[in-house]
Amino acid sequence: MMKIAVYSCREDERELFEAYGRQMGVALSVTEEKPSLENLDVARGCQAVCVITTPVPAELLDAWKEMGIRAVSTRTVGYEHVDWKHAREIGIPVSNVSYTPHTVAEYTVMAMLMAVRRMKTIVTRYQVQDYSLLKVRGRELCRMTVGVVGTGQIGETVIRNLSGFGCRILANDVCEKEAVKELAAYTDLETIWRECDIVTFHTPALPETYHLVSRESLAKMKPGVVLINMARGSIIDTEALIEALESGQVGAAALDVLEDEGRIYYQDYKYDLTRNHDMAVLSGMPNVLMTPHTAFFTDEAVGDMIRYSLESCIAELEGRPNPRRVNGR
Ligand code: COI
Repeated sequence: MMKIAVYSCREDERELFEAYGRQMGVALSVTEEKPSLENLDVARGCQAVCVITTPVPAELLDAWKEMGIRAVSTRTVGYEHVDWKHAREIGIPVSNVSYTPHTVAEYTVMAMLMAVRRMKTIVTRYQVQDYSLLKVRGRELCRMTVGVVGTGQIGETVIRNLSGFGCRILANDVCEKEAVKELAAYTDLETIWRECDIVTFHTPALPETYHLVSRESLAKMKPGVVLINMARGSIIDTEALIEALESGQVGAAALDVLEDEGRIYYQDYKYDLTRNHDMAVLSGMPNVLMTPHTAFFTDEAVGDMIRYSLESCIAELEGRPNPRRVNGR
C-alpha cells in the first residue's frame, strides 16, 4: 500500500487526513512536527511527502531521496518554501495545490471594506464604550478605482466579487485573461500607482514581485491610497510602508502577510516577545488591519488542500500526468 508522510498536521486537519486517506486507499504517517533532518523517521517507509509552509531545503530533499521518497506536495498555493529547483535536479517532482480561490478573494473584499470604513477603529472603540463619530467617517467603494495586481485564480475572483460594487477596476498581470477584460481594464503598473485609490496584490513571491511596493512606487501612488496584501509579505518593503503610513501617503492598509512572518504566525506569542518591531509598529496603527495569514482559512479550503495534495502524491506515485506539478516534467 502507498504511504504518504504528512508534516505540520494541525489539530483541525487530522480527521480530514484520516478520512481522505481512507477514501483514497493510502496509508499516512502523520506528525504535527515540521519537516527537518531530525525527524526523518516520520517519512521512513513512505514514498511521498506532504508539507505546508515550512522550509524544505536541499539537504532535506537529498535525505528524503535517499530514503525512497519519490514526490513532494505542498498543500499550499505558494511553493517558494520548497527548493523545487534542487528537487528537479535530483528527480523529485514537487507539486502545489490550488484550492477554492473564493476563500482569499472574499477575505480580500472584506479587508478592503474594513479598511475604507475604518472598521478597526470602530470595533476597538466600541469595546471601550466610545460611540462617538470622531475619525471613523469612511468612503464608498463604488466611487473608487481599485487596482488588482495579479490576475491568477484569486485575483480574477477578487475582480468578479468587486464587479458587484460598481467601482472602476484596473488590472495588471504578465498574462492577460479574456474573462478579466470583461470586468476590468488591464494596464501597466505606473497607471495603477497613479490612478488607484486602492491597490490589492495577488501575485506569487518571485524575484520579479519582490518589493513591488517600495519607496519609489509608493511616491508615485495617490496620496491616501489604501493597500491590501493577502498574498506574500515580500511584495511590500515593510519599512517603506511604515514611513508612508506615518507621512499619510498611505491612508490605510490591510495585511494578512508580512515579511519575516514565518517564525511567528500560527504560534501563540501571548506571553512572549515576537522581536519583530515592524509588526509591533504596524499593529499599533489604527488604520492598519493585521491578520495572521488567515485569508485562506475556511472549511472548504482546508478540505481542498488535503484532498488535492493527497491526489497529487498518488498521481505522481502511479506515474500518471500531474497538472499540479510545479517543477517540470
Ligand atoms: C498558500 O496556500 O499559499 C497560503 O498562503 C496559505 C498557507 C499559509 C496555508
